[in-house]
Amino acid sequence: MKQHLVIFDTTLRDGEQSPGASMTREEKIRVARQLEKMRVDVIEAGFAAASPGDFESIQAIAQAIKDSTICSLARANENDINRAGEAIKPAKSGRIHTFIATSPIHMEKKLRMSPDQVVEQAVKSIGWARQYTDDIEFSAEDAGRSEIDFLCRIFEAVIKAGARTINVPDTVGYAIPFQYAETMRQLIERVPNSDKVIWSVHCHNDLGLAVSNSLAAVLAGARQVECTINGLGERAGNAALEEIVMAVRTRPDVFELETRIDTTQIVPASKLISQITGYPVQPNKAVVGANAFAHESGIHQDGVLKHRETYEIMRAQDVGWSQNKLVLGKHSGRNAFKSRLQELGIELESDEAVNAAFARFKELADRKHEIFDEDLHALVSDEVVTPDQEHYKLLYSHVCSETGEMPHAKVILSVGGVEQKGEAGGGGPVDATFKAIESIVNSGAELMLYSVNAITTGTDAQGEVTTRLTKADRVVNGNGADTDIVIASARSYLNALNKLHCSLDKVKAQGDV
Ligand code: KIV
Ligand code: ZN
Repeated sequence: MKQHLVIFDTTLRDGEQSPGASMTREEKIRVARQLEKMRVDVIEAGFAAASPGDFESIQAIAQAIKDSTICSLARANENDINRAGEAIKPAKSGRIHTFIATSPIHMEKKLRMSPDQVVEQAVKSIGWARQYTDDIEFSAEDAGRSEIDFLCRIFEAVIKAGARTINVPDTVGYAIPFQYAETMRQLIERVPNSDKVIWSVHCHNDLGLAVSNSLAAVLAGARQVECTINGLGERAGNAALEEIVMAVRTRPDVFELETRIDTTQIVPASKLISQITGYPVQPNKAVVGANAFAHESGIHQDGVLKHRETYEIMRAQDVGWSQNKLVLGKHSGRNAFKSRLQELGIELESDEAVNAAFARFKELADRKHEIFDEDLHALVSDEVVTPDQEHYKLLYSHVCSETGEMPHAKVILSVGGVEQKGEAGGGGPVDATFKAIESIVNSGAELMLYSVNAITTGTDAQGEVTTRLTKADRVVNGNGADTDIVIASARSYLNALNKLHCSLDKVKAQGDV
């Protein structure tokens, strides 16, 4: 029987620590549902003590998710652990993940604590966490640069205190695979009762080695990998979930392990994260990049046509790539539309939501003859906005752009139900439209990112626009999709403004983790 490899997803916690990748509570719930559907074992839903918003998101996820363990991060202090314990209370299965730094540089310069004090604090933290759950994970932050004797000492102590998972993070992405594997092997060999716990890895990608280091540690005995969708995460990111899972699955001769992951949910998860955070996936990214299964050279194409496995080690459909097939057209009815959504695993919460999405589908089908699955995903993600989240709504937009003239835009918005008109000139049609919107809204927000991505091929493709705005320590991402890039941009900008308008406090205790 193959041993189980626990997949611990930290997209909602470490992933969200990527600059600008913050998500609203609703977005986090959507991501958590997708992770549950993909069957990840553990979802690290956030860092409860970081902000009231984080706390509420973890609590909401703990309520909504039944088939994955819900975890909150906590520093090794009583307040953090209490917040984490309260946040995961509604979960069917909940975990507290507590950590303290163990490298000489972190203990001396950051914590200003002696090694003895660090061990004492770690042991106390397990005691506090046990009031809430038996499922406790302990991480030795910066383990990659810690002394092995000290790691053995602290791990022995926390296992005795009740920790069930021991995580060995390469916090700064410093490790090299063979050394990291040797550290893991020695820890498992030397720490008393090491067979009573699950050993875990958590690697950052500063040297581009996060996946390699994680897999090397797995070969040395680790049975949990902490990873994120698309490798999102602090600085250069974390180990990419899709790469870890597909390596284990594609090379059973090397890894005699199994995961629970439904790999056909990988590409939908990747697209969802990219859309919500505004972090595009590079085309040549392994598994989830647009070119991951594209064969350009004639020799390769010929080989694949003769026998797929000549140049393909995985099947595109096994990781959730659809055939880009024509699914619906302008004559398709509501039932066909609804059943295609069901086939795609998209559940709209009410009949009104289906009707609204269907109306937008009809509008789109008038302008675009071929509607692909990707179009449906974009269309439906626009529908997730509820009326109370739509303080600003686009009613009308007009833009005039001609050679040698400054583009000029006019917009009419509904602002809290009241119609308001605005106009402005700008460097281009999108710039003019944003300025026209601002002439009404006066948001004072700073634009940090504007990106456009064609959802499918062809000049009638929908453009999917992401706009990132920041104001008073809050960062939000807005999305909009339309065959008209200016309208998609206006929608995306208003979506971000609406999020700023209704966002609760999102001030993060960044720098502490
Ligand atoms: O990188 C790191 O060390 C972490 C810990 C909190 C696990 O994210
Ligand atoms: Zn990390």
